[in-house]
Amino acid sequence: MNCFNDLADFSVAKIEELLALARRLDENPEPRALEGKVLSLLFLSPSLRTLASFQAAMVRMGGGTFVISPNMSIHGLESRSGIVMDGAAAEHIREAVPVIASYGDVIGIRAFAKRENLDDDLSDREFRELTSLVDTPYINMESAIKHPCQSLADWKTMNDLGIPDNGGKFVLSWAWHPRPLPLAVPVSTVHMAAMRGMDVTVLRPDGFELPDAFMDKARQAAAASGGSVAETSDRSDAMEGAQVIYVSSWASTHHYGNKRDEDEFKLELRDWCIDEPWFANAASDCRFMHCLPARRGVVVTDRIMDGPRSVVIAEARNRMLVQMAVLHQMLSS
Ligand code: CP
Repeated sequence: MNCFNDLADFSVAKIEELLALARRLDENPEPRALEGKVLSLLFLSPSLRTLASFQAAMVRMGGGTFVISPNMSIHGLESRSGIVMDGAAAEHIREAVPVIASYGDVIGIRAFAKRENLDDDLSDREFRELTSLVDTPYINMESAIKHPCQSLADWKTMNDLGIPDNGGKFVLSWAWHPRPLPLAVPVSTVHMAAMRGMDVTVLRPDGFELPDAFMDKARQAAAASGGSVAETSDRSDAMEGAQVIYVSSWASTHHYGNKRDEDEFKLELRDWCIDEPWFANAASDCRFMHCLPARRGVVVTDRIMDGPRSVVIAEARNRMLVQMAVLHQMLSS
């Protein structure tokens, strides 16, 4: 495996192989599998889980990591092309990224959507530009439109819980959030659940539709796996018989890059905060999933986060296990 950028690049059989490896490494640790190997971590956007889980994954297999992020004591980083660098930034990303990559055997890169230009973000322009600067294997640690490590962990979490693939009902729901968040998690999640063969419903208020191109791609994945993908703004309809509600917050593509307009547009949507009444007609053991971080009292109530439906801690731990599998595949001889 030379890069891990998108679950859609892999077959369902390959994903199941990675998940089996993740389980094996959990049950039968291989503390020397990656001895002498180095993972370079470039975080151009903030993180708790991704940062800690990649470091833990490498340590558990005998390898090492180093982290570079703009808020460390590094020279200011410039990313614009053709710029005269007479301002604060002393180093261009065009030198910084290949230098960082050259110290490791694989590089993980995180660069969230800039949320300025929708087409740039939908085409993952910045991430593609960054990876074009390296000649080592690379891992997408969340780009403008992809979060494959999260999706792999979420797939494992559902397998661990015995949530059915074919015939399992999966709801991806929008939740209100004070900030217009990127599309990477919802777009990756709907594709993951579709690939897993689930009956997927995207529940969102009007105006928060996911981009057509990604919905079409998810529908094709669902068709190949025996699942389906639907979309609605009707909460009761969406939740009927649901076995999983996966909650995420994302920006409206109608107001992309314009926070003031979006704030006004979603003024009446504060009730999109997941709470027990949402589960009235769901399966009795319907689970609550979220990639974290999640704002309590805004995105989800305390009683859901702290209650038996929530599997968010297992999801987060699975990040480490599936990343161990990915790194093992990339780096072990
Ligand atoms: N879920 C996730 O990627 O968490 P972090 O942003 O904390 O890495």
